[in-house]
Amino acid sequence: MTSARIALLPGDGVGPEITDAAVSVLDAIACRSGHSFTYRSGLIGGAAIDAHGTALSDETLADCQASDAVLLGAVGGPKWDSPTATVRPEQGLLRIRREMGLYANFRPVKLFSTLVDASPIKREIVEGTDLLIVRELTGGLYFGRPSERRTGVRGREAVDTMAYDEGEVHRVVSAAARFARGRRKHLTSVDKQNVLSTSRLWREVATEVAAEFPDVTVEHMLVDTAAMRLVRNPTTFDVMVTENTFGDILTDEASMLAGSMGLLPSASLGDGTNGLYEPIHGSAPSHTGKDDINPIAMILSSALLLRYSLKLEDEARAIERAVEAALNDGFRTYDIVGSGAGRYQVGTRAMAAAITERLG
Ligand code: IPM
Ligand code: MG
Repeated sequence: MTSARIALLPGDGVGPEITDAAVSVLDAIACRSGHSFTYRSGLIGGAAIDAHGTALSDETLADCQASDAVLLGAVGGPKWDSPTATVRPEQGLLRIRREMGLYANFRPVKLFSTLVDASPIKREIVEGTDLLIVRELTGGLYFGRPSERRTGVRGREAVDTMAYDEGEVHRVVSAAARFARGRRKHLTSVDKQNVLSTSRLWREVATEVAAEFPDVTVEHMLVDTAAMRLVRNPTTFDVMVTENTFGDILTDEASMLAGSMGLLPSASLGDGTNGLYEPIHGSAPSHTGKDDINPIAMILSSALLLRYSLKLEDEARAIERAVEAALNDGFRTYDIVGSGAGRYQVGTRAMAAAITERLG
């Protein structure tokens, strides 16, 4: 029996609804397998700005650090989106990733066969898609300094900085190579080495990491080519690893292979076992409170939490199988409803219930 402390950061928009859905599934798992999960909720993003004037308080961060894992909904929304705002919901997310040292963000993209027609890409291209994008999460443009608006001799100007050191590249490419080892042993390192200095360093270090993993085939690919190949030939990829901004962009693109942003989970990990689990989608403000958002990305994120932070592999698989079973039985939220007989459009809570009932 495992007893674990899970920090919940529901955040903004649909975040609270999908968090409730995931907790209902986690509670059902705990009940079936005799584990005990205790939760502690905190504020992040716009909700935290409204309450404390900051997107993540020191107390909430400390609570997350003292937990076994963190489950996060989504941050952001029109209320806090003014271009002149000095505090932004996204700062909470960047702070927790950075302060918890979660440098590797794992975003698996696996097509459920029953959803093959939900993807905007042709069946013969997407069929069999099963890849993992590893996004560097605590470096690059998101954190480089200077990053500011200023007034120059020609008027308004702005600067962001992309910076990496060799240690930052080495640890994330190594993490990706370890995952490739447990999969099809193929790693694609994505960069823009024909233009960027950071990418030339990235490729140099990735080549050194490749030498430490002789059983893994490592290829290098330019990010523009990778973006094209993802829709042309997605099944040729196994594990991809790339820097922060490229990874942000490529994972939204890759979600279309699975059929919807509402399906993709993520795990952010560092050197310890504590991790942050969140769907790759945002706060979907226009869906807030409607009980129609797809909870699957969040429920699959909780499966990753069980797998990586709590080492409960069987329970993680039980959730993944239950999600697949609910989809096979025709349950669909609005984003994946498609057409054809034998499908039922359901809301957030009904989808979570369908999954819970199929935990076995
Ligand atoms: C993601 C999101 C975030 C990011 C935003 C909300 C800051 O797009 O997790 O992919 O860019 O990292
Ligand atoms: Mg993103």
